[in-house]
Amino acid sequence: ADKHVQVKLVLLGEAAVGKSSVVMRFVNNEFQANKEPTIGAAFLTQKCRLEDRVLRYEIWDTAGQERFHSLAPMYYRNAQAAVVVYDVTKAASLEKAKSWVKELQRQANPNIVIALAGNKVDLVTPAPAAETSFAESEDEPDDATATPGEISASAGSHGPESLRQVPKDEAQAYATEAGLLFFETSAKTGEGVVEIFTEIAKKIPIE
Ligand code: GTP
Ligand code: MG
Repeated sequence: ADKHVQVKLVLLGEAAVGKSSVVMRFVNNEFQANKEPTIGAAFLTQKCRLEDRVLRYEIWDTAGQERFHSLAPMYYRNAQAAVVVYDVTKAASLEKAKSWVKELQRQANPNIVIALAGNKVDLVTPAPAAETSFAESEDEPDDATATPGEISASAGSHGPESLRQVPKDEAQAYATEAGLLFFETSAKTGEGVVEIFTEIAKKIPIE
């Protein structure tokens, strides 16, 4: 345990899906609401502790803007792991993620461990509904005190779930078929972020 295993990991995905934000949550446990786009790529490191070993991630956070696409092979070449990120509120970003996965499966290290991350899940997670049990109480049709408007409001018909453009089971099915780890994440709340890097670490072979 005197020497940490180094693991080169690359993040890929459409611009503004939150790659840098996921890395900043993992490395510094911080979130920035208006993060500037990455130019070229950024390099960061972070340790990841498993029960039986410690890995040191060497993270290449690439720029998602199309003009930087041709740089990507420099960063995924020799990478042992990749996190391909999309935004659960943007269906087109999952299509972009799928094209990155294809490129990795064709051109990167054949043993690369790939995780798919559906980020910004905080935007589609309904706030806890305090009155849920009230709505589910025994029906008394002749004694209703709530107006139809109140009923529909408490059912959350205009809730944030309506922002979701990528159903979780659809992304999960794609990930399973393509042989990827899959997580929904929020760089804002931290949900799922440590889990991605921990589950990837468990799949990195011990040398
Ligand atoms: P490029 O570097 O241009 O490829 O973008 P990126 O994928 O690194 O995205 P970045 O991390 O810069 O985030 C883009 C915007 O989305 C920023 O304003 C972030 O604050 C915001 N953002 C990132 N992750 C989340 C999240 O999980 N939830 C919410 N609500 N906003 C997020
Ligand atoms: Mg970035």
